[in-house]
Amino acid sequence: MAQHPTLSEFIYWEQESLSAGYADIGHILFAISLASRALHQDFSHLGFCSGTQLSGESLEGTERRREADNYAVARFKDILEATGKVCALTTPDEKIIPLNSHHARKGGYLVTLDPIDGSRNLDVNIASGTIFSIYKRLSPVGSPVVTGDFLQPGRMQLASGYVIYGPATILLYSRGYGVNAFTLDSQANQFYLTQDNIRYPKDHTFYSINENAEQKLEPGLQQYINYCRESDPATGRPYKPRYTGSLVTDFHRNLMKGGIYMYPSYMDHPNGKLHLLFQCNPLAFLAEQAGGKASNGKTSILELQPLEVGQQAPLLIGSEGMVRKAEEFIAG
Ligand code: F6P
Repeated sequence: MAQHPTLSEFIYWEQESLSAGYADIGHILFAISLASRALHQDFSHLGFCSGTQLSGESLEGTERRREADNYAVARFKDILEATGKVCALTTPDEKIIPLNSHHARKGGYLVTLDPIDGSRNLDVNIASGTIFSIYKRLSPVGSPVVTGDFLQPGRMQLASGYVIYGPATILLYSRGYGVNAFTLDSQANQFYLTQDNIRYPKDHTFYSINENAEQKLEPGLQQYINYCRESDPATGRPYKPRYTGSLVTDFHRNLMKGGIYMYPSYMDHPNGKLHLLFQCNPLAFLAEQAGGKASNGKTSILELQPLEVGQQAPLLIGSEGMVRKAEEFIAG
């Protein structure tokens, strides 16, 4: 394989060296990369950044984010439908979107999609991203997709990943054999492998949490935050606080540099804020594949049984030692 193979070369190489059935997953991953290439171009387009866009109207705040999300979903939907492998998508507004073309109806796979995570950051030109995961459907191929098809524990994911539209657009995924990252060369309009077999570094560098709601944290986690702030050169503390308000961006920085991201349980929001299917599970799958850990404070995220598509879960995710320490403080 070339030193920097393209995404399609890498997918083909994985397909040759891994188990049977991989071809379908490779096909879906490649389709996701095509949609994200198109979105990368949209994000670099003046209209997306100025707020006068897509529909031609000048939109503000929530309305603008909704339109951007719908637009992104439409991009992914069209391309995934054309693969004939995916029979339905679901998105955080809890809609199940069946893909109805003749081929897609016979597709054996499901995709969860957070089309633009951290979309509030679009207004201020901070990176945001798409988070996805792929599951095998449970109900018989050809029958209508039902909600229960999507209610699978994160352990059942066949692949997950994200795309960050930032200073560089990167796509990072795992299909259960390590985590690899690809960078978009926008002149060649190709993703090239830029980091293979990514692992969390040993250093514990950052902690990421919205400190605004600190007084509503349970006591154990409050003590862990204080522990992060204490000075102890032997353990590299104090850790540096970093929080962009874009989960995928905070997760990625911590994966590269060592750190923990927390959107925990608060007294008034016992299940936190993040969506189990769209955010926690895909990132937990990647974290474990990179030697990290993801927990709701007590239990591994990937073991949780979803009861509804829109289910929320507290999330502590990142370097294994940091998440374990936070769990210890919570356990008291
Ligand atoms: O769930 C969307 C999201 O924007 C995440 O990307 C981000 O980490 C979080 O919400 C930020 O929420 P808050 O503004 O409450 O800290």
